[in-house]
Amino acid sequence: MFVEKLQSALNEQINMELQAHYTYLAAADYFENMGLKGFAQWIYQHATDEMAHAMKIYQFIHSRRGRVQLLAVPAPEANWSSPQAAMESALMHEQKVTASIDRIVKLARVEGDYATDSFLQWFVDEQVEEEEVIDDVLQKLRLIGDFKPGLYLLDRELAGMEANSIAPTAAA
Ligand SMILES: [Fe+2]
Ligand SMILES: [Fe+2]
Repeated sequence: MFVEKLQSALNEQINMELQAHYTYLAAADYFENMGLKGFAQWIYQHATDEMAHAMKIYQFIHSRRGRVQLLAVPAPEANWSSPQAAMESALMHEQKVTASIDRIVKLARVEGDYATDSFLQWFVDEQVEEEEVIDDVLQKLRLIGDFKPGLYLLDRELAGMEANSIAPTAAA
């Protein structure tokens, strides 16, 4: 049975995914403005992934004959002091999303909504990957520090990568 509490929690999760979509769009704009197109493209792919996550939940709610409630999406942070600061805020957002997914899984189990529990396992796995790839780029930015040629090289590296991979794409 699709419990009311789970329906509300999933609607809030749609909002969190849309907030992540907005955050990545803002970050892509920040990098684009800095002339770091590799970063911008890589982050833009994350933005589209977050929209896909929101839609996955949207469709699941409908497949349970529930109702989607679209909540207001606050304006994201748009200016950071450095690329590292931008990626730190992206990682923080991912960690918040992970905590939220975990909370809903726990709620689904308590309420005996095993279909929602099962559905959310995809998100549990996805969050491990998302935190890992963001953190990998963040570690590189920390290593690079103020060394501009390093930033230039990382930008070139990211230009050939898929959002959920730190390895170059086949086409690159
Ligand atoms: Fe997501
Ligand atoms: Fe994400």
